[in-house]
Amino acid sequence: MIRDYSPEDYPRIIELWKLTGMGDEQRGDDQQVIERSLELGGRLLVMIRQSGNEIIGTSWITFDGRRLHLHHFGIHPDYQGQGLSHRLAEASIAFAREKKTQIKLEVHRNNRKAVSLYKKHGFKYLGDYNVYIIRDP
Ligand SMILES: CC(C)(COP(=O)(O)OP(=O)(O)OC[C@H]1O[C@@H](n2cnc3c(N)ncnc32)[C@H](O)[C@@H]1OP(=O)(O)O)[C@@H](O)C(=O)NCCC(=O)NCCS
Repeated sequence: MIRDYSPEDYPRIIELWKLTGMGDEQRGDDQQVIERSLELGGRLLVMIRQSGNEIIGTSWITFDGRRLHLHHFGIHPDYQGQGLSHRLAEASIAFAREKKTQIKLEVHRNNRKAVSLYKKHGFKYLGDYNVYIIRDP
Protein backbone atom coordinates (compact mmCIF):
# COMPACT_ATOMS: atom_id res chain seq x y z
CA MET A 1 0.00 0.00 0.00
CA ILE A 2 1.16 3.54 -0.72
CA ARG A 3 0.18 6.34 1.63
CA ASP A 4 1.40 9.78 2.68
CA TYR A 5 4.11 10.33 5.31
CA SER A 6 3.17 10.91 8.90
CA PRO A 7 5.66 12.24 11.49
CA GLU A 8 5.96 8.95 13.39
CA ASP A 9 7.40 7.39 10.18
CA TYR A 10 10.54 9.52 10.40
CA PRO A 11 12.90 7.19 12.34
CA ARG A 12 12.10 4.24 10.07
CA ILE A 13 12.38 6.38 6.95
CA ILE A 14 15.83 7.63 7.92
CA GLU A 15 16.89 4.06 8.55
CA LEU A 16 15.68 3.05 5.08
CA TRP A 17 17.43 6.02 3.45
CA LYS A 18 20.71 5.15 5.13
CA LEU A 19 20.35 1.50 4.19
CA THR A 20 19.77 2.33 0.54
CA GLY A 21 22.43 5.07 0.40
CA MET A 22 19.83 7.79 -0.19
CA GLY A 23 20.15 10.01 2.82
CA ASP A 24 22.56 11.17 5.48
CA GLU A 25 23.14 14.15 7.75
CA GLN A 26 25.39 15.84 5.17
CA ARG A 27 22.40 16.22 2.85
CA GLY A 28 20.36 17.87 5.61
CA ASP A 29 17.35 15.61 5.21
CA ASP A 30 15.92 15.91 8.68
CA GLN A 31 12.34 15.81 9.90
CA GLN A 32 11.99 19.59 9.83
CA VAL A 33 13.09 19.76 6.18
CA ILE A 34 10.71 16.98 5.21
CA GLU A 35 7.75 18.60 6.92
CA ARG A 36 8.55 22.04 5.50
CA SER A 37 8.62 20.53 2.00
CA LEU A 38 5.14 19.11 2.60
CA GLU A 39 3.83 22.53 3.69
CA LEU A 40 5.23 23.92 0.42
CA GLY A 41 3.12 21.51 -1.62
CA GLY A 42 5.32 18.43 -1.81
CA ARG A 43 4.52 14.87 -0.81
CA LEU A 44 6.43 12.04 0.75
CA LEU A 45 4.90 8.78 -0.45
CA VAL A 46 5.54 5.82 1.78
CA MET A 47 5.10 2.25 0.61
CA ILE A 48 4.21 -0.08 3.42
CA ARG A 49 3.71 -3.79 3.73
CA GLN A 50 0.16 -4.08 5.02
CA SER A 51 0.89 -7.00 7.29
CA GLY A 52 3.25 -5.61 9.91
CA ASN A 53 3.12 -2.00 8.73
CA GLU A 54 6.78 -2.23 7.65
CA ILE A 55 8.08 0.68 5.52
CA ILE A 56 9.47 -0.79 2.31
CA GLY A 57 9.80 2.20 0.02
CA THR A 58 9.70 5.97 -0.27
CA SER A 59 9.32 8.63 -2.93
CA TRP A 60 9.83 12.20 -1.78
CA ILE A 61 8.48 14.80 -4.18
CA THR A 62 9.27 18.42 -3.41
CA PHE A 63 7.71 21.51 -5.01
CA ASP A 64 9.62 24.74 -5.56
CA GLY A 65 6.68 26.69 -6.97
CA ARG A 66 7.78 25.90 -10.51
CA ARG A 67 8.41 22.16 -10.75
CA LEU A 68 8.25 19.00 -8.77
CA HIS A 69 11.53 17.24 -7.95
CA LEU A 70 11.75 13.55 -7.20
CA HIS A 71 14.13 12.56 -4.39
CA HIS A 72 14.85 9.56 -2.22
CA PHE A 73 13.05 7.14 -4.47
CA GLY A 74 13.90 3.69 -3.23
CA ILE A 75 12.82 0.25 -2.18
CA HIS A 76 14.12 -1.65 0.86
CA PRO A 77 16.79 -4.15 -0.29
CA ASP A 78 14.74 -7.09 1.04
CA TYR A 79 11.92 -6.14 -1.34
CA GLN A 80 13.88 -5.13 -4.42
CA GLY A 81 13.57 -7.11 -7.63
CA GLN A 82 9.81 -7.65 -7.32
CA GLY A 83 8.63 -4.81 -9.52
CA LEU A 84 7.39 -2.75 -6.56
CA SER A 85 9.23 0.33 -7.76
CA HIS A 86 6.86 0.54 -10.73
CA ARG A 87 3.92 1.13 -8.37
CA LEU A 88 5.81 3.84 -6.51
CA ALA A 89 6.86 5.51 -9.78
CA GLU A 90 3.27 5.45 -11.05
CA ALA A 91 1.99 7.04 -7.84
CA SER A 92 4.68 9.74 -8.04
CA ILE A 93 3.90 10.61 -11.64
CA ALA A 94 0.15 10.56 -10.89
CA PHE A 95 0.83 13.34 -8.38
CA ALA A 96 2.59 15.41 -11.07
CA ARG A 97 -0.32 14.78 -13.40
CA GLU A 98 -2.84 15.88 -10.74
CA LYS A 99 -0.79 18.99 -10.06
CA LYS A 100 -0.27 19.60 -13.80
CA THR A 101 3.38 20.28 -13.09
CA GLN A 102 6.66 19.12 -14.62
CA ILE A 103 8.64 16.60 -12.62
CA LYS A 104 12.44 16.41 -12.66
CA LEU A 105 15.06 14.18 -11.03
CA GLU A 106 18.78 13.57 -10.74
CA VAL A 107 20.17 10.09 -10.95
CA HIS A 108 23.78 8.90 -11.11
CA ARG A 109 24.60 7.72 -14.61
CA ASN A 110 25.93 4.42 -13.21
CA ASN A 111 22.68 3.62 -11.40
CA ARG A 112 21.47 1.32 -14.17
CA LYS A 113 18.38 0.04 -12.37
CA ALA A 114 17.05 3.48 -11.57
CA VAL A 115 17.90 4.92 -15.01
CA SER A 116 16.08 2.05 -16.71
CA LEU A 117 13.09 2.41 -14.40
CA TYR A 118 12.78 6.18 -14.88
CA LYS A 119 13.00 5.89 -18.67
CA LYS A 120 10.25 3.26 -18.64
CA HIS A 121 8.06 5.74 -16.82
CA GLY A 122 8.59 8.46 -19.39
CA PHE A 123 11.47 10.55 -17.99
CA LYS A 124 13.60 11.94 -20.81
CA TYR A 125 17.33 12.58 -20.53
CA LEU A 126 18.00 16.33 -20.41
CA GLY A 127 21.61 16.40 -21.55
CA ASP A 128 25.11 16.57 -20.20
CA TYR A 129 24.57 19.03 -17.37
CA ASN A 130 26.92 19.10 -14.40
CA VAL A 131 25.27 19.41 -11.00
CA TYR A 132 26.66 21.89 -8.41
CA ILE A 133 25.75 22.64 -4.83
CA ILE A 134 26.83 24.83 -1.89
CA ARG A 135 26.38 22.60 1.15
CA ASP A 136 27.21 25.21 3.76
CA PRO A 137 26.35 28.74 2.60
C1 LIG B 1 16.19 1.78 -8.11
C2 LIG B 1 15.22 0.91 -7.31
C3 LIG B 1 14.12 1.79 -6.73
C4 LIG B 1 14.55 -0.09 -8.26
O1 LIG B 1 13.71 -0.94 -7.53
P1 LIG B 1 13.88 -2.55 -7.64
O2 LIG B 1 12.93 -3.16 -6.71
O3 LIG B 1 15.33 -2.86 -7.50
O4 LIG B 1 13.48 -2.81 -9.15
P2 LIG B 1 12.14 -3.50 -9.70
O5 LIG B 1 12.15 -4.96 -9.46
O6 LIG B 1 10.95 -2.75 -9.18
O7 LIG B 1 12.31 -3.25 -11.26
C5 LIG B 1 11.93 -2.02 -11.84
C6 LIG B 1 12.78 -1.73 -13.05
O8 LIG B 1 14.11 -1.44 -12.63
C7 LIG B 1 15.01 -1.88 -13.65
N1 LIG B 1 15.88 -2.91 -13.11
C8 LIG B 1 15.67 -3.71 -12.04
N2 LIG B 1 16.72 -4.52 -11.85
C9 LIG B 1 17.60 -4.23 -12.82
C10 LIG B 1 18.92 -4.70 -13.15
N3 LIG B 1 19.51 -5.66 -12.44
N4 LIG B 1 19.55 -4.13 -14.20
C11 LIG B 1 18.98 -3.14 -14.93
N5 LIG B 1 17.74 -2.66 -14.67
C12 LIG B 1 17.08 -3.19 -13.63
C13 LIG B 1 14.17 -2.43 -14.77
O9 LIG B 1 13.85 -1.37 -15.66
C14 LIG B 1 12.91 -2.85 -14.03
O10 LIG B 1 11.81 -2.89 -14.90
P3 LIG B 1 11.17 -4.32 -15.33
O11 LIG B 1 10.43 -4.77 -14.10
O12 LIG B 1 10.26 -3.95 -16.44
O13 LIG B 1 12.32 -5.19 -15.71
C15 LIG B 1 15.94 0.13 -6.19
O14 LIG B 1 16.91 -0.71 -6.74
C16 LIG B 1 16.57 0.97 -5.10
O15 LIG B 1 15.89 1.37 -4.16
N6 LIG B 1 17.87 1.27 -5.22
C17 LIG B 1 18.60 1.99 -4.18
C18 LIG B 1 18.17 3.42 -4.10
C19 LIG B 1 18.36 4.12 -5.43
O16 LIG B 1 19.41 4.02 -6.06
N7 LIG B 1 17.33 4.90 -5.81
C20 LIG B 1 17.39 5.74 -6.97
C21 LIG B 1 17.93 7.07 -6.54
S1 LIG B 1 17.93 8.21 -7.89
